[in-house]
Amino acid sequence: MKMVRGLAVKTEQEYGANPLTVRETGHYKKEYIESFVDKWDSLIDWERRAKSEGEFFIETLRQHGAKKVLDVATGTGFHSVMLSKAGFEVTSVDGSQEMLSKAFENARSHGQMLRTIHSDWRWLNKHVHDLYDAVICLGNSFTHLHHDNDRRKSLAEFYATLRHDGMLILDQRNYDALLDHQIKPTHNFYYCGQDVRAYPEHIDSSLARFCYEFTDGAQFHLNMFPLRKSYVTRLMSEVGFQNVTTYGDFQETFRDAEPDFYIHVAEKSYVEKEDETS
Ligand SMILES: C[S@@+](CC[C@H](N)C(=O)[O-])C[C@H]1O[C@@H](n2cnc3c(N)ncnc32)[C@H](O)[C@@H]1O
Repeated sequence: MKMVRGLAVKTEQEYGANPLTVRETGHYKKEYIESFVDKWDSLIDWERRAKSEGEFFIETLRQHGAKKVLDVATGTGFHSVMLSKAGFEVTSVDGSQEMLSKAFENARSHGQMLRTIHSDWRWLNKHVHDLYDAVICLGNSFTHLHHDNDRRKSLAEFYATLRHDGMLILDQRNYDALLDHQIKPTHNFYYCGQDVRAYPEHIDSSLARFCYEFTDGAQFHLNMFPLRKSYVTRLMSEVGFQNVTTYGDFQETFRDAEPDFYIHVAEKSYVEKEDETS
């Protein structure tokens, strides 16, 4: 703990005596401490990430006619900034004040002024009082929710803040491959930084603990919930989303074990099936 402007600031992540027992949804706030947030951009490397993603999100949003976007997992602001630069009207939400401050700074250095809202997804609509064409929850963020009821509640909050024909884009690491021991994650898409090693330290059916090791010796962890793809798409449908389409590493066709990341694109607009009306 150090003091900054009279406030106590955490300098180390807190996991207690047995880190593997930490499986709480609210714990992300203790994980994204200032020193980790400061290093986050060398983990994701904006330039390389922009190259690897290409125009995928911009094109997908435009295809759906989305203009007004709520980035609910802003982090250090990568997508908020990219989308603002591309002409979208973006509002940036995060439950971590450290992340939002960093995002604001990053956006300023890219000539953008972010509209930020500090909120946890579970009570998003307490703080967000507008409707959006699209909600994006990217960078394997949904994995921070450790319990089924938190995931349902958050998806319901995302749904509620969308216009009647809005859309959700939510991505996740391919945990199926990790849980089934099929592949090791690569560095190709999300965590593109060259001076960091990110690897799973522990995996079981309700915990994926990742270690992030930087060349200067700094080491951080994240305790996440290993989401199975079929579970996430089912949950999205159960909450009311329609037409859930899944991409693997930005491709429409893929073999399940191959992608590092899945990107789910879902719609809110409800189309009645003919056989259900007859
Ligand atoms: C892995 S980071 C991803 C950030 C960014 N989207 C990216 O791709 O670089 C996850 C972000 O989600 C936020 N987050 C996690 N759980 C949250 C919750 N329950 N409510 C609001 N924000 C949350 C964290 O604070 C963090 O900024």
